[in-house]
Amino acid sequence: MRSMFTQPIPTLRRDGDGIVILDQTLLPHRVETRRLETLEDVAHAIRGMQVRGAPLIGATAAYGVAIALLQDSRHPRLTHALEVLAATRPTAVNLNWALGRMAARLLPIAASARIEAAWDEAEQIRAGDAATCADIGRHGLALIEEIARRRNGRVRVMTHCNAGWLATLGEGTALAPVYAAHARGIPVHVWVSETRPRNQGLLTAWELREAGVPHTLIADNAAGIVMARGEVDIVITGADRVAANGDTANKVGTYLKALAAREHGVPFYIAAPRSTIDFGCPDAAGIPIEDRGDEEVCTAQGLAEDDGVRTLRLAPKGTSTANPAFDVTPARCITGIITERGICGPARLRDLFPTPAR
Ligand code: MRU
Repeated sequence: MRSMFTQPIPTLRRDGDGIVILDQTLLPHRVETRRLETLEDVAHAIRGMQVRGAPLIGATAAYGVAIALLQDSRHPRLTHALEVLAATRPTAVNLNWALGRMAARLLPIAASARIEAAWDEAEQIRAGDAATCADIGRHGLALIEEIARRRNGRVRVMTHCNAGWLATLGEGTALAPVYAAHARGIPVHVWVSETRPRNQGLLTAWELREAGVPHTLIADNAAGIVMARGEVDIVITGADRVAANGDTANKVGTYLKALAAREHGVPFYIAAPRSTIDFGCPDAAGIPIEDRGDEEVCTAQGLAEDDGVRTLRLAPKGTSTANPAFDVTPARCITGIITERGICGPARLRDLFPTPAR
């Protein structure tokens, strides 16, 4: 079954010798696109979070390789592009996965054949992610349907960060089952946490509002009481890197939700494609966690009275901060992982993906 979902605005599309992205630094207040034409443009867009979310970051990097080769498609330029893009953000392994695919396809062939092959491979990554999202949605839908049957009423899903269409090339990972359920007429409600400091939850709320899916925005710290009140049937989040043993890195704050879910007997699921699973990383200890520095913690961005998107200072300059952008939820706190090949326990990923797959 293929999904009927079409992204309301493409998160990424090829435009001649460049790509057009939706600039996510201005959302949910402004909808603006940007054309990226150089390797530096693409690296800046990933580093500066104009594109966000593990699958989208990976695909953007793949197109970045194609763009870089337009200038010079010989070996040194290719390896330079791969290195520059790999260094943009450390945690989402989809970046390395996509660059690995580009390297495997392009390094062995003649320089003269590389540009066409690079666009083709990037396009395959883009289309593959769209299909993957649909499959994750289909498998996750079964979980929501089962809860709907049991409860005979609205299914209350909690999520964290943004793992909807804005983070991918399709309908999303964690939100794909929600959209699938909504499309089937199953009543769903989503608890959306703000996700400070970069407020990716506001993007989730924006997406859900546009799609007409009932939802409630809460402060990150409210997730515990909402679960304690028995108002959550299932937690589904995305992931940036899943280690071989099922330990999962996702946006900071995910771990606290998993702990609260365990305490209150709420099933906690990760929705992630194969491209987010790092079989080369045995467990949490091997996952690099991005530290994004002081400013994000000390400031907040919003819409001013004059309708301009502005940054406000919350804490004085010089305030001592720590800003880990991700945390790791141990496999023992995870009920299951929803992938494009089905759902498995965190320790059973190899059952679904027995061979190194593309
Ligand atoms: O905004 P980012 O790129 O720092 O955050 C990444 C994410 O969107 C998430 O962590 C998400 O939950 C997993 S990617 C679908």
